[in-house]
Amino acid sequence: MSKTTISTLLKMKQDGQKFTAITAYDASFAKLFDDEGAQVLLIGDSLGMVLQGGDDTLAVTMDDMVYHTRCVARGANQALVIADLPFMSYATPDQACQNAARLMAAGARMVKLEGGDWLCDTVRQLTRNGVPVCGHMGLTPQSVHVFGGFKVQGRDEFQAQEIYRQALALQEAGIQLLVLECVPVALAERISKALRIPVIGIGAGPVTDGQVLVMHDAFGITSGYTPKFTKNFLAETGELRAAVRLYIKEVAEGTFPGPEHCFN
Ligand code: KIV
Ligand code: NA
Repeated sequence: MSKTTISTLLKMKQDGQKFTAITAYDASFAKLFDDEGAQVLLIGDSLGMVLQGGDDTLAVTMDDMVYHTRCVARGANQALVIADLPFMSYATPDQACQNAARLMAAGARMVKLEGGDWLCDTVRQLTRNGVPVCGHMGLTPQSVHVFGGFKVQGRDEFQAQEIYRQALALQEAGIQLLVLECVPVALAERISKALRIPVIGIGAGPVTDGQVLVMHDAFGITSGYTPKFTKNFLAETGELRAAVRLYIKEVAEGTFPGPEHCFN
């Protein structure tokens, strides 16, 4: 099978085929997820929580991201490898370019950053310099202390309209993928339909073009609080590979996420 690229995902969106993303932080899991057919591997700065034990993602450094990106890239074969720019590593377009270059050199094939239309200049500068960009809107965990907690975003009509407008602005600036996290299903649907680029949801309902989960959540090994939108696929299958296959199958068939995983 050939490598998954942004063109593959775009075609899947156009054909109405759902695709699956999952976080990975090391070569062994990256290879396992890739072998089972996950289309996208995300080196998420969620590693600050699930690997490092932090309460949020803010302490993650560029060195952390480069290290884990290199590990995942070695294990990946077909999947598209996307790496997060961590907290405060893209405060200016120049800083974003310098740091994105490190992630690309470590094996990322796209970088992800969190925020709205204030990032348009940054997105333009990155794409002009050959760095594909994935946006991330809704509940953006790097801003958890601005939000006052991990809270669903876009619940009122004004906020929903702002997220919608800014998603379109980011698309015009050049993002090629968008992650939508913890927004009401109706808003996720509106955005997924309006954008030509593929939209990946987490806590955004079954209406997005793809789904992403933190791998630890998909295996039910996250300590403490488990968010409503996740599902423990290992509990049903008892085996890692079977759990990944079930996740991919349920996304492709549109049965995950179910109504119990959604915000309305
Ligand atoms: O860091 C992460 O794992 C993420 C996904 C949950 C989208 O950004
Ligand atoms: Na992230």
